[in-house]
Amino acid sequence: MKFFIDTAEIDEIEDLLKTNMVDGVTTNPSLIAKSGKDIKETISKICQLISGPVSAEVTAITSSEMVEEGKILHAIAPNVVVKIPLTWDGLEACNKFYNLKIPTNVTLCFSASQALLAAKAGATYISPFIGRLDDSGIEGVELIGQIRSIYDNYDNLNTQILAASIRNTNHIIQVAMLGADVATIPPKILKDLIKHPLTEIGLENFLKDWETTGQKIR
Ligand code: G3P
Repeated sequence: MKFFIDTAEIDEIEDLLKTNMVDGVTTNPSLIAKSGKDIKETISKICQLISGPVSAEVTAITSSEMVEEGKILHAIAPNVVVKIPLTWDGLEACNKFYNLKIPTNVTLCFSASQALLAAKAGATYISPFIGRLDDSGIEGVELIGQIRSIYDNYDNLNTQILAASIRNTNHIIQVAMLGADVATIPPKILKDLIKHPLTEIGLENFLKDWETTGQKIR
């Protein structure tokens, strides 16, 4: 399973790259706005740090304008994945990028029918939003299972499932159990994955006992 990090903050990316667990990065217009930085400069900096896929989202509404914007974003670096909203115009643009061999991430997916359409349009990734579905009272992770079953039924649907809008570590475990190809994870939650109180207490006790021996390994 691949881990992408869901952030536009360069320092957070640099920090997590040290773990060697980061396979890619996703951004969106809200994350770029939060960073207060220029989108092209930010995407360029991220692509200098990581050779894996970096999603940069178009903000146009019509397919032709999405294609124009996507080409500009993809020209920043070869690992830029053009992120496109799940609308009919978005799917049309997605199909154009498929024919141009430019990778895409179709975002704002909230149903299996939308995921089926994105795969038929040739999306490289589909981003179902787990946390936002939970917020609306629907069990978000169930959507990952539905999409996995549909995609696995057909050899010609090769879109990767990128679980997005992850809110806690349990989401990651659940989507991993359901066969998501990728989870895009906020930096804090990726760091939380390692936490267990028994590990912390166990280590504390080992070190206390070791001190009583007066020994040194180095
Ligand atoms: O990048 C898309 C997605 O991960 C957004 O998450 O927390 O804003 O619902 P969130």
